[in-house]
Amino acid sequence: MDLLVLYYSVGGSVRRMAELVAEGIERVPGAAARLRTVPRVFERNPIPEEGPPYCELADLEECAGLALGSPTRFGNMAAPLKHFLDGTSLLWHRGALAGKPACVFTSTSSLHGGQETTLVSMMLPLLHHGMLVLGLPYTQAEINATRSGGTPYGPSHFAGFGDTEPVTDAERALCIAQGRRLAEVALKLL
Ligand SMILES: Cc1cc2nc3c(=O)[nH]c(=O)nc-3n(C[C@H](O)[C@H](O)[C@H](O)COP(=O)(O)O)c2cc1C
Repeated sequence: MDLLVLYYSVGGSVRRMAELVAEGIERVPGAAARLRTVPRVFERNPIPEEGPPYCELADLEECAGLALGSPTRFGNMAAPLKHFLDGTSLLWHRGALAGKPACVFTSTSSLHGGQETTLVSMMLPLLHHGMLVLGLPYTQAEINATRSGGTPYGPSHFAGFGDTEPVTDAERALCIAQGRRLAEVALKLL
């Protein structure tokens, strides 16, 4: 069973989170993470030289669930990811993603710079697709203990100005927990 980890990252913070979410997915026996990204909107060369391939509609359709990651851009998801999602109408028409589990994660440079608004805004198109959006329960101890990122709406990372802050132990644990949760729910829904 493949779970799609689809993210956009310029500075590397969201990419690190995506790798941790993937680690959580792969800790569940029978689950495999499929990492994908999207091009910058005005990028001339659409072929990535490094990192995961660009996401195609088939990836969304073939995978049993989705973890969607974006840096915060003015309190919202990044335009390249929104641009990709805006191209998924064919799947929406057929209800191809309806009933599949999904979760979201983000990174910001400032502590109160819009993590929760970004996470909630990322949920909206997934709800329109009929996906079953998962958060993180407070039974996950790091949600209460964190002094940086980590929310009940999904994992987050406080990266600091210039993305210089490392992913903390609590943020790391919550990324992995979210990946595990996505994979465990997807297996139950199979
Ligand atoms: C155009 C633009 C808008 C941004 N808006 C916000 C914001 O609203 N709040 C915030 O805390 N950080 C904001 N940032 C900073 C990024 O969200 C932050 O550096 C993030 O960790 C980058 O993730 P990445 O390293 O995966 O690209 C913005 C950055 C850019 C370039």
